[in-house]
Amino acid sequence: MSQAKVTVVGAGQVGATAAFVMALKGTADVVLVDVAEGIPQGKALDMMHARSIEQFGVSVTGSNDYEATAGSDIVVVTAGLPRKPGMTRDDLLAINGNIIRSVVEQAVAASPEAVLLCVTNPLDVMAYLAWRVSGLPASRVLGMGGVLDSARFAYFIARATGAAISDIDAVVVGAHGDTMVPLPRLSTVAGRPLTEVLPAEQVAEVVKSTVYGGAEVVSLLKSGSAFYAPGTSVAAMVAAMLGDTRQTMPSCVLLDGQYGLSDVYLNVPAVLGRSGVVEVPEWGLTDEELSALQASAAGIVEAVASLGLGG
Ligand code: APR
Repeated sequence: MSQAKVTVVGAGQVGATAAFVMALKGTADVVLVDVAEGIPQGKALDMMHARSIEQFGVSVTGSNDYEATAGSDIVVVTAGLPRKPGMTRDDLLAINGNIIRSVVEQAVAASPEAVLLCVTNPLDVMAYLAWRVSGLPASRVLGMGGVLDSARFAYFIARATGAAISDIDAVVVGAHGDTMVPLPRLSTVAGRPLTEVLPAEQVAEVVKSTVYGGAEVVSLLKSGSAFYAPGTSVAAMVAAMLGDTRQTMPSCVLLDGQYGLSDVYLNVPAVLGRSGVVEVPEWGLTDEELSALQASAAGIVEAVASLGLGG
């Protein structure tokens, strides 16, 4: 069997980290693509220099065009601009929207059978746009947000309880932003619901830290945003799909009636496999959890409409 091939568009902080984690784990041959000349080539070469040390067999190459990406099994899209001072959310939406349109068109033309994994923010809107522009079935277009938010939730739960990180199973649903919905009732510490392990006020603190986890990193870094945990989250989703593991991962997927929502991309638990999104089961949520999820979705629907899409 030939080695799986993964393209990562955007050889910036998140894209390069994802590529390097995949190389270290031997997940797939990786092609890095970026508009910046020399950056994908230079980063790929630097990673290949580490090959004899870490003894990975897969290759990482860099390119400025899509020819090199032909026949990819998965295309990860991290291309985009960060929000700069003076830029409104709508400005960013329009700029990254145009980048997504152009990247997705070219990437899908080169790899018509690929699964698209969108990472560019605002994630839930960009994933919806990628699906619409690509013309692919929704099962082959998804976004990375829930895995990262859930990993942050797990970290803060471990810190608050002193439990081993491996004993924690944490889940966050909803938009990948301020309106995300961590689910303490369905998150466990050694099998026990978090709501039984910590008093309510401590649960609320952990939830708050999770929601502002990304912003905390941004404020410490001063320029740029998180990339180690995001890159690792991408690599985990890619490995689950290529390995056809059928793992349930909180993923940004198209809802088709689940949770009373449709025609919106949102992070919810989804079963991942070789063909992308295998199943989006509907978890039983309390009225409160469900209304938080629906409120989170409403913000995304509004942003999608502002791009002249939806409906
Ligand atoms: N095609 C290919 N690459 C592009 C394009 C394009 N049309 N436009 C921009 N890029 C590249 C930039 O040249 C840059 O190398 O995308 C890369 C983005 O990298 P960074 O600026 O380092 O951003 P990063 O921190 O990696 O975040 C990327 O992921 O988590 C999200 O919010 C984050 O939307 C952002 C994205």
